[in-house]
Amino acid sequence: MVRNLEQRPDTVLGLATGGTMEPVYARLVADYTAGHIDFSAIRTFNLDEYVGLAPDDPSSFMHYMRKHFLNRINIPAENAYIPRGNVADAHAEAMRYEYAIVASGGVDLQLLGLGANGHIGFNEPPAILSSLTHVAALTQATRAANARYFDKPCNVPRHAITMGVGTIMRAKEIVLLAIGAEKAEAAANMIEGQVHENCPASALQDHRKVTVVLDQKAAARLKHAR
Ligand code: GLP
Repeated sequence: MVRNLEQRPDTVLGLATGGTMEPVYARLVADYTAGHIDFSAIRTFNLDEYVGLAPDDPSSFMHYMRKHFLNRINIPAENAYIPRGNVADAHAEAMRYEYAIVASGGVDLQLLGLGANGHIGFNEPPAILSSLTHVAALTQATRAANARYFDKPCNVPRHAITMGVGTIMRAKEIVLLAIGAEKAEAAANMIEGQVHENCPASALQDHRKVTVVLDQKAAARLKHAR
């Protein structure tokens, strides 16, 4: 990724949130602080945002991104795109966001995490594998997994605006990271299972340039790990 940014300073990055990504942002910030990367020309598009949360809400993905990355590098604020969660019409916002991605020329490099249920972004199973940016209902399991970012579990929103699987598949290159035993089943389904709506990440099997990085625990259920 660093090499990518060095070669093309105007790269369009697709970004993800979650615990898995925190060390990635820490590393990119360290490289920036050391003078190795310049972010002044990049544009970023985040995968998703909760419906109903304002950008300065401490549980919003915008807040996460500012805290871990955006406020610590030299990206111009107007170059960092995240769906607006606190708009009157979330469906219109989703369409506007999809258009903004297309108008940027498309995502060059998309970072992805993996949900324990096989979701990417907030594309929950069963997912339409050709979907564009849309309003998605969150499953109970995903709301529980993300409750740690909220003061009370009941405050986790029920909907999010998310890039669709189809949006994600249009990225020119994808890097997916998954860590820990709770991702092992989803990782095995993603890599060795059928491409199926019940594991949205399995759609990546049809992408021409994907790198999947797993730790040993997340790779534990692969039959052909070697
Ligand atoms: C959220 C995000 C996903 C992310 C997932 C994994 O649900 N919408 O994009 O991949 O969390 O998060 P973690 O890395 O904390 O396990």
